[in-house]
Amino acid sequence: MSPEAFGPAVLEWFDRHGRKDLPWQQDITPYRVWVSEIMLQQTQVATVLGYYEHFMATLPTVQSLAGAPEDEVLHLWTGLGYYSRARNLHKTAKIVVEQYAGEFPCSVEQLAELPGIGRSTAGAIASIAMNLRAPILDGNVKRVLARYLAIDGYPGEPKVAKRLWEAAERFMPVARAAHYTQAMMDLGATLCTRSKPSCLLCPLQSSCQAHRLGRETDFPTAKPR
Ligand code: ADE
Ligand code: SF4
Repeated sequence: MSPEAFGPAVLEWFDRHGRKDLPWQQDITPYRVWVSEIMLQQTQVATVLGYYEHFMATLPTVQSLAGAPEDEVLHLWTGLGYYSRARNLHKTAKIVVEQYAGEFPCSVEQLAELPGIGRSTAGAIASIAMNLRAPILDGNVKRVLARYLAIDGYPGEPKVAKRLWEAAERFMPVARAAHYTQAMMDLGATLCTRSKPSCLLCPLQSSCQAHRLGRETDFPTAKPR
């Protein structure tokens, strides 16, 4: 499959099978997408759902979050864990209100400078909320790409990470950035799973190198120890 055919195959699968009913997929704004992506960094979708609705009902805008006492933000986070995420969320809201007049910056580079937003989360916000052609490389997408290209080596190694980012960049289509990003996350979460990938249902199956070799679970390479 050529790089040009990868995006359309993924998008066609998304139209048929992708999730479109999650709360952060409704009324899409940078604020709503950002809060969801921070919650989803270390917490599963099923757990995030209830917290997200309550958080958004309590603090519906970046201004309300920036103006809330830190105690309240931490209280809304109670149960989600990794509380530095909540403190960074609060810090970033204040920066967006004070330095960006309440509008999230529209570039991956500027987004990635904000506390708690790494390169992949910046790509997720830029693509999902702004429909910019900005790739992501979270755990799910790393697994899909490492298998698709049979990329050897631990992704924590800079040389391996570089290859994965280059692949993420190359395969991302020009149109429908938001749907493509969501599709890649869904593909990794539902089909290309860690221990038993459902290759027969996968839109990438005909050209997946790990599948061709029958070595799906060899990629990505585990952390050396
Ligand atoms: N994990 C991280 N971001 C996600 C999203 N937008 N939808 C589902 N799972 C996710
Ligand atoms: Fe993953 Fe299998 Fe699809 Fe390859 S064919 S990307 S291993 S689910």
